[in-house]
Amino acid sequence: MAQLILCSFLRFISKRQKVNSKKYMTDSVKFWAVVPAAGVGKRMQADRPKQYLPLANKTVLEQTLMRLLDADVFSAVAVAISKEDPYWPELELSNHDKVITAADGKERADSVLSALKSLRDQASDSDWVLVHDAARPCLTSSDIHLLIETLKDDDVGGILALSSHDTLKNVEGLNITETIDRSVIWRALTPQMFRYGMLKQALEQAEGNPAVTDEASALEMQGLQPKIVEGRPDNIKITRPEDLALAQFYMEHQQ
Ligand code: C5P
Repeated sequence: MAQLILCSFLRFISKRQKVNSKKYMTDSVKFWAVVPAAGVGKRMQADRPKQYLPLANKTVLEQTLMRLLDADVFSAVAVAISKEDPYWPELELSNHDKVITAADGKERADSVLSALKSLRDQASDSDWVLVHDAARPCLTSSDIHLLIETLKDDDVGGILALSSHDTLKNVEGLNITETIDRSVIWRALTPQMFRYGMLKQALEQAEGNPAVTDEASALEMQGLQPKIVEGRPDNIKITRPEDLALAQFYMEHQQ
């Protein structure tokens, strides 16, 4: 039974890998990637930030950046890096001609805003920006292109998301107060895709607001309704030590 599930998962993966990566390059609007990579990742309890932990002969951050560069759609990838980060200058990719290093910010949203500002002289307000967590190294080209294909004519933009398979509970202390209707609950993933001008303005207006934990929430505060696009479950965020082994497994079977 387990073998059957694994085989159909692998078939599903190889089918979704086949995409035409050049089809957006003819449009005048450009695509930019922004990667907030300035977090410390306390929950990993490691000797270095989680984006620099080893994964399949590279660091997590290199794997993530390679996925974005290999999608062959971005004019550049702006990466927000902590001022005290000794690891970044050691990576060959930090000198890649499509990689721009930006300063960090206090929270994730501040790092994203800083990276957006680093693109100020090159990006137009109507260009699209895909913001992607440094700690999601299993992102596939197929999901990048699915997001772009679905939203490229949208007024607002949107995010990759996953529906919830588990029953969800509202809890106070350790007591369940309510069962939530899971059909209306989605888990927000990245990339999150918005117009450069709209996203920059939304993040500037939301600055310092702790409720802004992703880009979509900043747009929601403007009264807008970003779309969701169902993403792949293997686009996991490295959060705990065991996630590295799972990411390694997914990467081996995505080839
Ligand atoms: O901690 P968490 O996994 O939610 O962070 C999501 C992403 O935001 C990570 O890629 C992390 O490096 C980044 N981040 C950042 N600047 C901060 C805090 C987090 O770029 N101040």
